[in-house]
Amino acid sequence: MAQFWKPGTERPPLLDDEEGILLYSASRSSSSGYNHVSIEKQRQRLPVFRYRTSILYLVETHATTIIVGETGSGKTTQIPQYLKEAGWADGGRVIACTQPRRLAVQAVASRVAEEMGVKLGEEVGYTIRFEDLTNRDLTRIKFLTDGVLLREMMEDPLLTKYSVIMVDEAHERSISTDILLGLLKKIQRRRPELRLIISSATIEAKSMAAFFHNSKKRRGLEGEERGPKTEPAILSVEGRGFNVQVFYAEEPVPDYIQAIVSTVMSIHDQEPMGDILVFLTGQDDIDAAVQLLTEEAQNNGKPSSGLVVLPLYSGLSRADQDLVFSPTSRGKRKVVISTNIAETSLTLEGVVYVVDSGFSKQRFYNPISDIENLVVAPISKASARQRAGRAGRVRPGKCYRLYTEEHFVKEMSAEGIPEMQRSNLVSCVIQLKALGIDNILGFDWPASPSPEAMIRALEVLYSLRVLDDDAKLTSPTGFQIAEIPLDPMISKMILASNQLGCSEEIITVAAVLSIQSIWISARGQQKQLDEAKLRFAAAEGDHVTFLNVYKGFLQSGKSSKWCNKNFVNYHAMRKVIEIREQLRRIALRIGLVLKSCESDMQAVRKAVTAGFFANACRLEAFSHSGMYKTLRSSQEVYIHPSSVLFRVNPKWVIYHSIVSTDRQYMRNVISLDPSWLLEAAPHFYQHQQANSIPH
Ligand code: CDP
Ligand code: MG
Repeated sequence: MAQFWKPGTERPPLLDDEEGILLYSASRSSSSGYNHVSIEKQRQRLPVFRYRTSILYLVETHATTIIVGETGSGKTTQIPQYLKEAGWADGGRVIACTQPRRLAVQAVASRVAEEMGVKLGEEVGYTIRFEDLTNRDLTRIKFLTDGVLLREMMEDPLLTKYSVIMVDEAHERSISTDILLGLLKKIQRRRPELRLIISSATIEAKSMAAFFHNSKKRRGLEGEERGPKTEPAILSVEGRGFNVQVFYAEEPVPDYIQAIVSTVMSIHDQEPMGDILVFLTGQDDIDAAVQLLTEEAQNNGKPSSGLVVLPLYSGLSRADQDLVFSPTSRGKRKVVISTNIAETSLTLEGVVYVVDSGFSKQRFYNPISDIENLVVAPISKASARQRAGRAGRVRPGKCYRLYTEEHFVKEMSAEGIPEMQRSNLVSCVIQLKALGIDNILGFDWPASPSPEAMIRALEVLYSLRVLDDDAKLTSPTGFQIAEIPLDPMISKMILASNQLGCSEEIITVAAVLSIQSIWISARGQQKQLDEAKLRFAAAEGDHVTFLNVYKGFLQSGKSSKWCNKNFVNYHAMRKVIEIREQLRRIALRIGLVLKSCESDMQAVRKAVTAGFFANACRLEAFSHSGMYKTLRSSQEVYIHPSSVLFRVNPKWVIYHSIVSTDRQYMRNVISLDPSWLLEAAPHFYQHQQANSIPH
């Protein structure tokens, strides 16, 4: 390892001079035996405990309190409990704590329930999309995604049941967090008794404070009424992290999965005990790395070498999540390979080594091409520092960066870009419209989205007939679509299926599209997987293939054996059934009729077209390489190798999403008859593309 690694020259700053935030600090208390002390003792040892009184005082006296504290200091798990102990949940009121990530919601809720000694779903509960584990009468502390809280506003615009709303992980600047912050600021004016806590690991606390204090009207009120101060309070919780020594790769790394395997193995061979946390990009890469590492550990001639390799990403089953969080048994070393969810949302005890690939999966939207991409892109310096910090949780640690120091200094941006500024805004616009916000461009955003992206979104929504000429939600279509908690294009597809008599099938398709993948991803077994897929493959495309898999799964009696035999992910199929059930309920609520089209797959394809017409592409006539161009903006795209239409290349296709690697690949593709496009969206295609679509 010595010749490969170069120690970093950057000294981690002790104090961020602007805000007085302690980033890394020397050891203050030893935490050996941490796992053996009582929960109460553990709670008191967390850095946030020393601030309990101050936090409660600030929340009492200020409408908004901004709390900054290093990951693991106890913000998420402790503050809601302090609030409850101080009476903020008395009289039937509820304390809410939002997270951008579903997995984080589940994990912290179950931790807090455990700390309070209550059953999850009673006093402490959580809600994420398609999963509600709360009790109307009993739940006092509720964890939820910020997206779910936005949805709750549609029923209860002032969120009256909540006494305190803690918007956690605000530094992530997820699109829902930003919308939520803008709306909560409005709600505060109507509900002075509501308290907000904005918390995060790193945040430009001052600009956030300015955002909550930039209204003249509010300033005028201050002092005239008795009530909380409108000027936000800022509190920083001093961390207790240990020093982390940072090492860089001497040369750029050609294959980060391979580099992860060799780095982990050499840490395991040469370094003292302590768990390893690896930051990778997404499920596919993580599964591949887990498999390679597991094999490597076995091939090393040490089958019981003590290495326990585990993945961590959203969509993991509960049992797998529990494995990740459970303490490592004696003589074993845990290696957790994670997406950036472990960067700040979750704390894993016992991590001493961090291996940072330097990448994460990020969404990028280009309003010119109107393509939203999921791209593996370099992280920011701020993220890299957060990742390194995870190694200093229990004792001084080491962080191995799989990139050069030069790359860190020169190529990595200081901060990430808020998601709002790199996303397709269709869902965002429809949600605001449904909440009665008419002037979207004039909305008070923490970070303004680009006007081009806004206009693109309005165009699509207009073509979907969700908005009328005055940019108001249409009735019933617009309101029905806003009611379905899915991408508006999927929701439109469901509505269309009602008229086409194939709602049972389309609801299945929608459920499959809302999970990552129904296939087992197996590196090295690609051939077997492809063969398994062929058993279900439909000439029409992936959506119809999903229906075949679903049918097979039902016919097998929902058997896990059947799944394994066919390379179908059993856990994913259970999820599909669950989501499908919920979607059926929603469909019935908004007045749709559930009907099956049996084997009329044309109806299914038409329904897909009705929702996704904006994603239509045509095969280039002269192209033997399978090059398509989007009708909308003539972008070059290709069918993803995972699609059943890969190499089949029908002339006209519609895709569900795009992923970029060396090229822009369409994932989940279905063939169509181009005349359906004009049928589905006359104003969208009439002028711009009339020439290219045969009538
Ligand atoms: O939100 P913040 O990052 O400040 O910390 P937290 O999530 O409240 O975690 C506080 C502590 O609780 C962590 O340092 C862990 O020791 C512990 N914890 C745990 O053991 N298991 C969990 N699932 C969550 C937290
Ligand atoms: Mg937290």
